[in-house]
Amino acid sequence: MKKDFLSILDISKGELEQILCEAGQLKTLKKEGKVHDVLRGKNLAMIFEKSSTRTHISFEVGMNELGGHALFLNARDMQIWRGEEIRDTARAASRYVSGLMIRAYKHSTIEEFARHATIPVINGLSDLEHPCQLLADIMTIQEHFGSTRELRVAWVGDGNNVCNSLILSTVLTGMNVTVATPRGYEPAEEIVKKAHAIGGKVTLVRKPEQAVKDADIIVTDTWISMGDDAEREERMRVFRDYTVDATLMRHASPDARVLHCLPAHRGQEIADEVMEGGQSLVWDEAENRLHAQKALLVRMLKK
Ligand code: CP
Ligand code: NVA
Repeated sequence: MKKDFLSILDISKGELEQILCEAGQLKTLKKEGKVHDVLRGKNLAMIFEKSSTRTHISFEVGMNELGGHALFLNARDMQIWRGEEIRDTARAASRYVSGLMIRAYKHSTIEEFARHATIPVINGLSDLEHPCQLLADIMTIQEHFGSTRELRVAWVGDGNNVCNSLILSTVLTGMNVTVATPRGYEPAEEIVKKAHAIGGKVTLVRKPEQAVKDADIIVTDTWISMGDDAEREERMRVFRDYTVDATLMRHASPDARVLHCLPAHRGQEIADEVMEGGQSLVWDEAENRLHAQKALLVRMLKK
């Protein structure tokens, strides 16, 4: 396995399978109340430039359950916020802890940490990707459908970081993704090109109805990601026909399931009736962040 996990494509198909298999085992061990403290003595530093609920809690609890420890570091309280160079922070931190998880505005910030840290670096969300989310999403899909092969996934809304990781993940899972976004809000061109070049299956469309037609899984996310707040008014107008609601769900297979990485904005990208309805898998998806990341941490930090 590579030193760092910055993109969902930093792991191979085989590594993904192993991580998800181990995640399933860790989930069972936890339910049975069994201790599995294989990361005793290991420390994970978690640097956050942006808010977080799930990523913060699941990484901290995950390290704890594995017998290690996690340090929450608000980037605003660190010297990097006052101008200390990333390369210096990365090298100093590498002398203290066994791994770094970073949530940053710019993907290049996390890449720079990874370049200079001698310890593993994990992307806890950037403007380009959210690979840890995809581990949990794929785990949830596998649990529900048994396999990911040839499943049809519809993404409805903003072509954002989570969408980018979903598109790249099709290379590993064999899923087909149809992405419906308004003009100007398509996923990053470099991501779509990369996916196409290495066997990913992604189609871009405009209409949500077209994307969800016969889909097995419908995925959405906020219209206003962290960092996009200045565009709130414009985005609320542009995305108004992109709500995943009961009417849209009627275009999908009756057995289709819905994912949302959370936090959700009911009445915007997802209707309450869908969030709370029988087709929603969002709580299993949120739970699986913990199990999938524990499996990732074991692979990356256990020596
Ligand atoms: N899905 C996710 O990453 O949630 P948080 O922003 O709460 O960490
Ligand atoms: N796309 C969202 C995901 C939050 C987990 C954001 O970047 O804010």
